[in-house]
Amino acid sequence: MTPIETLGLTKYYGDLCAVDHLDLSVGNEIFGLLGPNGSGKTTTVLMLTTLLQPTEGSARICGYDICRQAREVRKQISYVPQEMAVDIKLTGRENVALFAKLYGIPRRDEAVGRVLEMMDLSERADDLVRTYSGGMRRRLELAQALVHEPKVLFLDEPTIGLDVAARRKIWDHIRTLRSRGMTIFVTTHYMDEADHSCDRVAILDRGLVIAVDSPAALRARVGNDIISARVRGVPRDSFPEGITLLGEREPGEMVFSTDHGSEKVPVLFHWLESQGVAVQSLSVREPTLDDVFLSLVTAREDGYGFDDHKFRMMLRRRG
Ligand SMILES: Nc1ncnc2c1ncn2[C@@H]1O[C@H](COP(=O)(O)OP(=O)(O)O)[C@@H](O)[C@H]1O
Ligand SMILES: [Mg+2]
Repeated sequence: MTPIETLGLTKYYGDLCAVDHLDLSVGNEIFGLLGPNGSGKTTTVLMLTTLLQPTEGSARICGYDICRQAREVRKQISYVPQEMAVDIKLTGRENVALFAKLYGIPRRDEAVGRVLEMMDLSERADDLVRTYSGGMRRRLELAQALVHEPKVLFLDEPTIGLDVAARRKIWDHIRTLRSRGMTIFVTTHYMDEADHSCDRVAILDRGLVIAVDSPAALRARVGNDIISARVRGVPRDSFPEGITLLGEREPGEMVFSTDHGSEKVPVLFHWLESQGVAVQSLSVREPTLDDVFLSLVTAREDGYGFDDHKFRMMLRRRG
């Protein structure tokens, strides 16, 4: 049975289309839903976890319909929302025990001990959560979510607000859960984290999925190398051969793709100078999912793909 399947799943808030005809099929994998703030990630998760009624379309979790079989769906899943959901006046163990009681878990103490151990919280289990770090609180939320042994785990921005080490640890745990056969549906606006840890990702832009693939396959779409340029001025002619403009990350920072970065940097530099464009810096690096997002969004805004004409118009508009 496919863990998650959506068919034209759609949500309107009044006139605003927050999620636009989502078609996804998610297997036993870490599936990342990526996109900037406001792109529809949380709305999608709320519908899939039966907490929000879709406007249109449908979805099945382990074969159960999210609207007509919501009770069955809830038995299969767990959901860790973005906002903190632990009681800081209780110990870690007491927090998890409450969940275990709520779910009517048999041999409760054993189950609680097991998930605390899984999340590396055994040593601090009897301390008040008030004394926990942000990363420990997040892991406690994961422990709670695991106590009834869900088949599908939904995590909404699990690493938001955590430091680098704590983030890494959360992703280590997520990968361990996947290796035990769990399906993990995780949202994030940190593209780099998804790149390292997700088996596949869907990229959302204003409610619409604009790409679904493995991070490596998506990166391969934008070529071998990225050249990032800080410039001032407007080129008159077409870009040199073998150099494609992906878009503008921020005013004055142009992002190009090419298959031969080190070869094309001097070409691009001389060409820009010859066009009367002041070059403040040029650098080559490997493509990231941010570059993929930029190229897809730029292409979508343009309708035909990003060309030199559009580039000049953009620079002109900016003055
Ligand atoms: N309850 C709501 N009522 C009206 N608009 C909402 C509501 N929740 C979210 N939105 C809007 O829907 C869009 C998607 O929001 P959300 O799903 O929270 O995105 P994300 O999680 O990717 O940041 C945003 O434009 C947001 O302002
Ligand atoms: Mg959100």
